[in-house]
Amino acid sequence: MTIVIFGGGGDLAHRKLLPALYNLHVDGLLPPQLAIVGVGRKEMTDAAYREFAKDGAKQFSRRPIDEGAWNAFAASLFAAAADIDGENGLAPLGSRLDIIEHERHLTGDRIYYLALPPSLFVPTIRQIDRARFVQRGDAPAARIIVEKPIGHDLDSACAINDEIAKVFGERQIYRIDHYLGKETVQNILVMRFANSIFEPLFNQKNVDHVQITVAEEEGVGTRAGYYEQAGALRDMVQNHMLQLLALVAMEPPHSLDADVIRDEKLEVLQSLRPLDGSMIDSNVVGAQYAGYRQEAGVDAASRTETFVALQVFVDNWRWAGVPFFLRTGKRLPKRASEISVYLKDVPPILFNAGPKKRLEPNILAIRIQPDEGFSLGISSKKPGPHVEVAPVKMDFHYGTQFGGSSPEAYERLLLDVMAGDPTLFMRRDAVETAWRFVMPVLDRWAAQTDPLPTYPAGSWGPAEADRLIGSTGRSWRPL
Ligand code: BG6
Repeated sequence: MTIVIFGGGGDLAHRKLLPALYNLHVDGLLPPQLAIVGVGRKEMTDAAYREFAKDGAKQFSRRPIDEGAWNAFAASLFAAAADIDGENGLAPLGSRLDIIEHERHLTGDRIYYLALPPSLFVPTIRQIDRARFVQRGDAPAARIIVEKPIGHDLDSACAINDEIAKVFGERQIYRIDHYLGKETVQNILVMRFANSIFEPLFNQKNVDHVQITVAEEEGVGTRAGYYEQAGALRDMVQNHMLQLLALVAMEPPHSLDADVIRDEKLEVLQSLRPLDGSMIDSNVVGAQYAGYRQEAGVDAASRTETFVALQVFVDNWRWAGVPFFLRTGKRLPKRASEISVYLKDVPPILFNAGPKKRLEPNILAIRIQPDEGFSLGISSKKPGPHVEVAPVKMDFHYGTQFGGSSPEAYERLLLDVMAGDPTLFMRRDAVETAWRFVMPVLDRWAAQTDPLPTYPAGSWGPAEADRLIGSTGRSWRPL
């Protein structure tokens, strides 16, 4: 197998892809015959590319480098240059790949990874097609991996999907949402459907509301060029957060087949109550951290939101009337992602009858990261002569239970592409449905000129987000 990484000299390859491939090598999970070819605009020697990869692995691999293992891995790394806009297209790259595959006795099965800005997706796919890299019939298998964001809005996402579909069949296309590769995210389905205690609770009879928070401590960093055009709604909600919501809210699939699971997730996205008109103003808050406009590469009058909070509803029988509160932002007090399922209050009788103090609700808290695991808050009698009820926790931590470090999302995802398993990847219909859901918000915001609310860097977001949830008599869970 040959993995051809377009953008092989870029940030994603350096920080994520090459370290992930190295860890798969250490675990003995890569195919024995493999070539990894990093494609960039500039000529680079194989030796220089191996150094670049080693530097990435040193900084970002979850395991330290073992020289012996590294040298064996590095022997399968190669560099190649290609000029996407050039006259010759990918013909020189094709010859280079043929030589590498011939020398290493490879079959010609290839994975093309577009680790590129979305504006280069369509030109690159056209060149892949022109160079006849993808043949039909019994020819060696070709797969393509595309990174989010897929498009800038619904129309551009459809255009990209149309273009890819001219060359690759849907089962050959792997659209990455790296949250789906996280162990804790994969565990949502196991927790719900491998335990008889939880699934019966997941519905409007037992759940008061659900909160999904993805908080980041870092600011925009060096990515202003991209982020200024994106903002938190496109960057996090359209993909990662709606995928988390779909996993929490979906019906039990009848099998673990990729399309059965993806059908059920799609149902949830299709059941989201559309946001439109003035309803958007009362259900969605966009805000910017103070100091964002002074960051390098950011427009001094930028209206890009670095924080979003939303209240959404899944209008089906299971979830009728249960609000889902989503919030995500940069420059919040810490990196913490969690899904909290608030169960309904017990009736105000017996232990919950006191006028002074109400019992805390039971909360099932699924910690996506860091401190991966989940906990269930329950009420218990405090030992002593009086009946005093106190909240206690049943808590599961991956670190102490399973030891070691969990594989990075990209390790699992790359392995699944090699194995041909699309379960953890986004199908075209899900991507487009998610865009359809966020478009009215993007359109409304684009037409507004008022300054965005701001929040102090290092705080939990603007007062408007507290009011959003507070107006329903609830509050954000402190993390
Ligand atoms: C990416 C976003 O998809 O996810 C980034 O583009 C964000 O802006 C990142 O920082 C968060 O990923 P993780 O795995 O660090 O939670």
